[in-house]
Amino acid sequence: MSILSFGVKVTRNIYIRVNHDTSVIEMDDTKRFGVSIPKELLKEFDEKLEEKMYANRSEAIRDLIRDFLVEEEWEKTDEEVYGSMTIVYDHEKRGLSDKLTELQHQDHTNIISTMHIHLDRHNCMETMVIKGNSEDIKKIADKLRSTKGVKHGKLTMTSV
Ligand code: NI
Repeated sequence: MSILSFGVKVTRNIYIRVNHDTSVIEMDDTKRFGVSIPKELLKEFDEKLEEKMYANRSEAIRDLIRDFLVEEEWEKTDEEVYGSMTIVYDHEKRGLSDKLTELQHQDHTNIISTMHIHLDRHNCMETMVIKGNSEDIKKIADKLRSTKGVKHGKLTMTSV
């Protein structure tokens, strides 16, 4: 496997250790470190960056690191956080709409809002805003995602 190396600048208050290959060099208030990555993976990454209109790799990696750190915050907090859960399902599937409505009623104290969009003749998308501690939110999201017939489910959490 061929490995490429490139440098990444992050702000000073974010310190990460990717692996033993990572070297950290201080530059003013940013640090530069090297990352080794399989050539093919980097190629895919670069293509995505272009799609997402990132100016450079550093900017994209900073975003990824921030996302990762925010996610870690949710994991340990007992405080109230908010999540948005989006699911896609076929409403013609027998009993599925009722089942999903029932699940949402069970957790009505956490699920504070639901938006329903009819995507096409068959498919529906629902986005729910869920509040609670991160564990409760994840449990509710897992329940919805794992309901038979739900094609796709994605949870995004955020904290203030
Ligand atoms: Ni619908």
